[in-house]
Amino acid sequence: MTLNEYLAARVATIDRVLHDWVPAETVEPQTIHRAMRYSLFAGGKRIRPVLCMAASDVVRPDAPGIADAASTLEMIHTYSLIHDDLPALDNDDLRRGQPTNHKVFGEAMAILAGDSLLTLAFQVLASLKHASAEARAQLVLELASASGTVRGMIGGQVHDIEGEGMAPTAALLDKIHRAKTGALLKASVRMGAIYAGASAHELQALSEYGEHAGLAFQIVDDILDIEASSEALGKTAGKDLHQQKITFPAVYGLAESKRMAEEERQRAHSAVAGFGTRAARLTEVADLIVDRKS
Ligand code: IPE
Ligand code: IPE
Ligand code: MG
Ligand code: MG
Ligand code: MG
Repeated sequence: MTLNEYLAARVATIDRVLHDWVPAETVEPQTIHRAMRYSLFAGGKRIRPVLCMAASDVVRPDAPGIADAASTLEMIHTYSLIHDDLPALDNDDLRRGQPTNHKVFGEAMAILAGDSLLTLAFQVLASLKHASAEARAQLVLELASASGTVRGMIGGQVHDIEGEGMAPTAALLDKIHRAKTGALLKASVRMGAIYAGASAHELQALSEYGEHAGLAFQIVDDILDIEASSEALGKTAGKDLHQQKITFPAVYGLAESKRMAEEERQRAHSAVAGFGTRAARLTEVADLIVDRKS
């Protein structure tokens, strides 16, 4: 199977699971279910659930029910995007090639759509059929802490917002990026490993991979914000400079940022080299994260 075929199959499975978990648009109150589905099915890359499933496959290929666990990462991620785009945060009009959630449904409904995706993620983890009670609790802990305020996504968003217009220092950049994006990407890999019953040694290697892949991901997001078009990205390009965000290019310049993304790719590869061919997909996904054009 080529990487593209592998990705297409994973994305189809994840989309099916998401369709099953999110109440239909006909279920009352209809507006919130329409708003949740609007952003979920607008065409995201599904990198986080793909990483989760690929990490799980390293430990135990095709673990039953893994897509349900993986789908919770997409719920949290989509909620974070809906809220990231709100006028009070990045104030964006375009996301995943479509008008942002609040542009279509209004701010109140966009806030609630984010809240409800966040809540649903934990409902799904609590009801996983193929995981032990202990594994479910561990998964909840991983997802909650990666999404939280202490070195998690929310913490990173706080630093990102408060950092607007501040002097772009390497220390602040590192803090923002590891938290706002890195934490959830690392958790994606860790949750896959935990779901599949990884040993402490396996979990350590996969966590290291997740850390480097996660950092590479946000470096590339910052580079694309400068180099890609809004059409290619499906979101407004050039926003970071406009909003004086602390980004890799702002701190290190474009050329050095690209070199650093390359370095993180190599570190991600090295972290899973011990798994041999079992980690081939993860290695390819790290390449995809760095080489992507959107
Ligand atoms: C964009 O994430 C926001 C960041 C955390 C950098 P993605 O690039 O994964 O966005 P989608 O899910 O494909 O829309
Ligand atoms: C968003 O970072 C990170 C989260 C949503 C947690 P950005 O603000 O850089 O994401 P984009 O560029 O709008 O997708
Ligand atoms: Mg932002
Ligand atoms: Mg943004
Ligand atoms: Mg960005």
